[in-house]
Amino acid sequence: MQPVKKQIIAIDDEPNILLSIKSCLSSDDFHVDTCSDINVSIQAMQSNLYDCALIDIRLGGESGVDLFKRMLSEKMDIPVIFMSGNASLKEAVESQKLGAYDFLEKPFSSDKLRLTIENCLTFFQLKNRLSRMSGSQYDQAIIGKHNKVCRLKREMAKVAGTDAAVLINGESGTGKELIANAIHQGSSRSKGELITVNCSAVPENLVESALFGHVKGAFTGADSAKKGYFEQAHNGSVFLDEIGDMPLSAQVSLLRVLESREIQKVGAESIIKVNVRVIAATHKDLKSEVEAGRFRQDLYYRLNVIPIVSPALRERLTDIPLLTTHLVERLCKQHGMPPKKIETACFDVFKKYSWPGNVRELANTLERMVIMGGDKLRVDDIPHDITDTHCASSDDLTLKAYRASAERELIVNRLNQHSGNVSEVARSLDIDRTNLHKKIKLYGIKKESDFI
Ligand SMILES: Nc1ncnc2c1ncn2[C@@H]1O[C@H](COP(=O)(O)OP(=O)(O)OP(=O)(O)O)[C@@H](O)[C@H]1O
Ligand SMILES: [Mg+2]
Repeated sequence: MQPVKKQIIAIDDEPNILLSIKSCLSSDDFHVDTCSDINVSIQAMQSNLYDCALIDIRLGGESGVDLFKRMLSEKMDIPVIFMSGNASLKEAVESQKLGAYDFLEKPFSSDKLRLTIENCLTFFQLKNRLSRMSGSQYDQAIIGKHNKVCRLKREMAKVAGTDAAVLINGESGTGKELIANAIHQGSSRSKGELITVNCSAVPENLVESALFGHVKGAFTGADSAKKGYFEQAHNGSVFLDEIGDMPLSAQVSLLRVLESREIQKVGAESIIKVNVRVIAATHKDLKSEVEAGRFRQDLYYRLNVIPIVSPALRERLTDIPLLTTHLVERLCKQHGMPPKKIETACFDVFKKYSWPGNVRELANTLERMVIMGGDKLRVDDIPHDITDTHCASSDDLTLKAYRASAERELIVNRLNQHSGNVSEVARSLDIDRTNLHKKIKLYGIKKESDFI
């Protein structure tokens, strides 16, 4: 395999200097782009991911330090080495204060240049590694000690350090967005933005413009140029939430970008390179969506490089006490209330409920209890829809009642998995639609899961 060349940009107003830097560095290890104009160099740095920028302090009438300030204000996280033959001490000190890695005095030998760049690259690699989340930070973000949650956190820590595409699968309210956020924060891209795209909310005819942006006048109503989500996330990550709801036409464009790492704004002729890590999430079973012809297989494989499963709350009921305590603390702070305690008997009631809405449903239930209850939250404060529908303990159940309660729970879960699509649920349970409708009515399953 060819080693990946380090990408360097050299910015100087003297063509001879640029030529000699290029000839000294161009080898198997480095690729060097050169530039003598501030605006052109900004454009180049926006569309390529450079590992290091060599900047002359005096750029004709302009200042390399000002260019560096612009890079900082535009959150370009590129290590900078300044060069100068006649810079004042003041400029050198200022550049280092702003965070430049080093200062090279002209004339410099090719050995000195190579060594400074190599040291700079090693330093920034180490810094990135250290700034990534440590294991305990994942513990603070994702509450839970159940085996499935521990495995999830281990997987997150492993993938965060890579640029691989991640596909998070889990029911609604299980924390998919929380996971995406933690993966981004734990990655070397954490200084860049995490741009969230709700794929089910973007109108089909606007998907291209939303994802890739448009130039002024590209279509009626495009009064000004607009950056798309991918451009905004340059050097960061894009979180494609509800990817299973993305229209097929938009899936084609998305696949093209993931393969080429290039975008073309609607109405633009030129192409922009983007450096973006993709994290996608869905509550749907994308494999079945592929089989049903609603999701492109090639895109599925592109996104599903690292599959991560966010477990349903009913599969990790032992985490209820930890989660409840954490959420009550968070809710009290949110509502400006003093911290409230919770009766341990509440945990037992919660552990008997199936939580079709997962942690979000638990948080909403607790929010009601925090607002309505006293200093200590009690079983009596638990809303009736939780206490009434919880699966009774198996000790006091007849076989018939037990069967009915298990059947109800299975149907609710499947309706959630299949976004309420009764035909799909009937197929997956191998019963006919009319029979399923009868059971939904019999068990009083409400339209809360928005099933069709
Ligand atoms: N393990 C967890 N620890 C702490 N809070 C959690 C955890 N899982 C979920 N939450 C909380 O539950 C709520 C729902 O989480 P989130 O929005 O990430 O779920 P989701 O899977 O993206 O849901 P949806 O599919 O409906 O968009 C949030 O308030 C989140 O903070
Ligand atoms: Mg979500």
